Amino acid sequence: MANLFTVTPHTAIDQIITLEQLHAGNLTANTIQHYAAGKGVNVAKTITAMKTPVTTLGFIGQQSRASFQPLNSTLLTADFSNVPGLTRYNITLQTAAIDQETHIRTPGFAVTETDSLALIHKINRHTQPGDIIILSGSLPRGASTHFYADIITHCRHKSARVFLDTSGPNMATSVQALPFLIKPNVAEMEALIGHRLTTNRAILNAAQYFIRQGVEVVIVSLGKNGIIAVTQTEALLAYCDKLPSQKLITTVGCGDALVGGLALAYQQNKSFAEALKLGIACATANLFSQEPGMVAPPLVDEIKSTVKLDSLKNL
Ligand SMILES: Nc1ncnc2c1ncn2[C@@H]1O[C@H](COP(=O)(O)OP(=O)(O)OP(=O)(O)O)[C@@H](O)[C@H]1O
Ligand SMILES: [Mg+2]
Repeated sequence: MANLFTVTPHTAIDQIITLEQLHAGNLTANTIQHYAAGKGVNVAKTITAMKTPVTTLGFIGQQSRASFQPLNSTLLTADFSNVPGLTRYNITLQTAAIDQETHIRTPGFAVTETDSLALIHKINRHTQPGDIIILSGSLPRGASTHFYADIITHCRHKSARVFLDTSGPNMATSVQALPFLIKPNVAEMEALIGHRLTTNRAILNAAQYFIRQGVEVVIVSLGKNGIIAVTQTEALLAYCDKLPSQKLITTVGCGDALVGGLALAYQQNKSFAEALKLGIACATANLFSQEPGMVAPPLVDEIKSTVKLDSLKNL
């Protein structure tokens, strides 16, 4: 069976601190949670939560190695490349007012051209035809905007499939290199196409533009409204119209869980409709987990059976 790899050039350590109140002065935290993270790491957590092996690659700061070591398990192989410095922190301060989170982001390591070439080479060495390589998230300081494009080009040559979920200045260049699948949200698709997208028709047109360019699958995620999923022959709106009754915990990582579910389905040669159902089910299950990407398989199964697919052919 095809192997799954996730690549996170810009890893992070997520720290979630809960407090009674937030104000200047001395504060005592109620709880502190600490997760080795970054978008591709979250995708790998979804894949292993669904009982499937995955290798996770990317850069980490040498001084932060101890935080990433515990990711390794029987299903998850963490094979990061060390660069000098610290991995950045994403610190979230939570109080009882759930809609008033405070986020503090620290700058992290920078990479050199030699670091980038070494990681591209490593990905090349590890991957075989048919494998799925998931490129996730932004690029660290020092990485060329061609970093993902170079990986995509290498993977295309050996018939490995790249799933791309990125944003920012590298996105257009990366998409031009024609990954197998792209997963922008609406804001990312707007940045890519260069204009606002206010209707499903407009999103579908934008997705079809990239299909004509040569991307095989375009998945535009619409937050609570699900996804618009397009290939050369299909155009579907997929969504979960009845959320489980449990308390929703966080939307962080829903896009990553979506990508993880899609990758699992493609690895298992499922139909397009089944892939969308598994993707939406993993994304929705992520809403009910504190740790981004971690999903509970029974909940994924339960949600999968409720996912709706509407054709957009006559939109
Ligand atoms: N509030 C919500 N209610 C129900 N489903 C949601 C909600 N938010 C996200 N989802 C599910 O998760 C999927 C991905 O979410 P979204 O479009 O927010 O991705 P994203 O912006 O890439 O997220 P991130 O990059 O933070 O992981 C959606 O297509 C949907 O299936
Ligand atoms: Mg996203």
